Amino acid sequence: MVIWLSKYAHVSLNPAGAQIITNLIQIIYVSQPFGFDEPTLAGILLDARRCNKRDGVTGALVCRHDIYLQLLEGPEVPVRAAYARISQDDRHVGVKN
Ligand SMILES: Cc1cc2nc3c(=O)[nH]c(=O)nc-3n(C[C@H](O)[C@H](O)[C@H](O)COP(=O)(O)O)c2cc1C
Repeated sequence: MVIWLSKYAHVSLNPAGAQIITNLIQIIYVSQPFGFDEPTLAGILLDARRCNKRDGVTGALVCRHDIYLQLLEGPEVPVRAAYARISQDDRHVGVKN
């Protein structure tokens, strides 16, 4: 279940002092683990860290035996792409688009 989604503009300065405006998005969802154990969780974290670093996405993942709750934040295109991959992942269930 997606429980919240917001968009906002992040304004920063480049080294020359010019404004850089980045459109960011946040998505929060909850799901239910399928096969929750240490190796599964280690694999998920490995995938998430590798992909998020590559894609400029950040976030937080709350892991319990009965629930995942994740915040994803970053530029809209890579965040939506990450969410699309995550929602197809068979290591959890109950994620809806
Ligand atoms: C609970 C959970 C959280 C995940 N978090 C992320 C994440 O933050 N970023 C990400 O790219 N993939 C995350 N993944 C892994 C993706 O589903 C997927 O395996 C990964 O993005 C690699 O995609 P690919 O196999 O299509 O290359 C997560 C998977 C699960 C089950």
